[in-house]
Amino acid sequence: MIQIAVLGYGTVGSGVVEVLETNQELIAKRAGQEINVKYVLDLRDFPGDKIQDKIVHDYDVIVNDPEIQVVVEVMGGIHPAYEFVKAALEAKKSVATSNKALVAKHGAQLLAIAKEKNVNFFFEASVGGGIPIIRPMNTCLTADDVDEISGILNGTTNYILSKMFLEGLDFDTVLKDAQDKGYAERNPEADVEGYDACRKIAILTSLTTGQQVNFEEIYTEGITKITAEDMKYVHKMGKAVKLIATSRKEDGKIYAMVAPFLLDADHPLYSVNNVFNAIFVHGNMLGDAMFYGSGAGKLPTASAVVADVVDAVRQQDHVAVEWNETPLVLADLKGAQRRFFVRVKGGLAEAETIFGSIEKWEQVVEGESGFITPMLSEKEFEEKAEKLSGMIHRIRLI
Ligand code: HSE
Repeated sequence: MIQIAVLGYGTVGSGVVEVLETNQELIAKRAGQEINVKYVLDLRDFPGDKIQDKIVHDYDVIVNDPEIQVVVEVMGGIHPAYEFVKAALEAKKSVATSNKALVAKHGAQLLAIAKEKNVNFFFEASVGGGIPIIRPMNTCLTADDVDEISGILNGTTNYILSKMFLEGLDFDTVLKDAQDKGYAERNPEADVEGYDACRKIAILTSLTTGQQVNFEEIYTEGITKITAEDMKYVHKMGKAVKLIATSRKEDGKIYAMVAPFLLDADHPLYSVNNVFNAIFVHGNMLGDAMFYGSGAGKLPTASAVVADVVDAVRQQDHVAVEWNETPLVLADLKGAQRRFFVRVKGGLAEAETIFGSIEKWEQVVEGESGFITPMLSEKEFEEKAEKLSGMIHRIRLI
């Protein structure tokens, strides 16, 4: 029997216990041994809960127990998760985590410790919740030069944008509905400002390049400025607007960013709606692939964490992951080429003079007009947009 410890008995932690209990027999068959939760670390007590006798408040009990072979870290945040995970690996215990903040910031270092100690640091649930993406990247796509990863990596914002699009509601109304339904946190900043998606694309970019991406260098724009008026144009143009986290290789340079983008109806991410996530990957040999499913939530996330535990039990040795601590230099976004959708007050005469050949969208909202620019670099767009009087909003096209 394998003994494990779960750090944090919140949504995901209780999900891990539930998954292990519900699928106990088949998990034991697949792991080759029964898996038992010996300890649950939390600041709180849980009187009456099935794990009440397993609760410990002192991490030393876990890290110093030679019976514990795998530590599940589902506390979230950097401290003390980082110190706990590091200590577990140094004590030759494998770790499975769903903590994207921890993985994005310290992934390379923790993997190096895992390698040195010949144990594993697995983090499938840190990106895309229950969707398999880390393991496919690390084991199935090793023959490819992956030149693009573009994903809808945040369920909260995808729910909000889908509902704004389908029901014509404004951002604040839909955010409140999402909070009431439990799809958005009371403090929604990490989701709606794109910070959550930023950490996830940082992890995926580190995995494809093998180098450490500093997520603070990734240009990140959230969805708070998207309005019900924008959505009227989006409908009229036959497009969708999605918060896209993207990382693309062009001329050997990596461009990474998170921002709302307009997508055409034939784009694979167009019909990914509500709380679902999807990750589009392009490899130079593979061509296109798409990973779709439940990107958040208690049981989908716990499912990925427990699968990591099973893998940690099956693996006798460290599984190589190409991700070292050398910092990756990201390309300056100003050079990235794309088209932009712009809304302006009044007519389009000035826009035509400044941008040349534009695609016009008039009489969609009273007193204003919309247009799509030709292909421009971000820098060229900024320079031209400064000359434009009465610009209301702009959204990039993918
Ligand atoms: N708040 C996140 C989301 C949870 O909405 O996708 C998973 O990281």
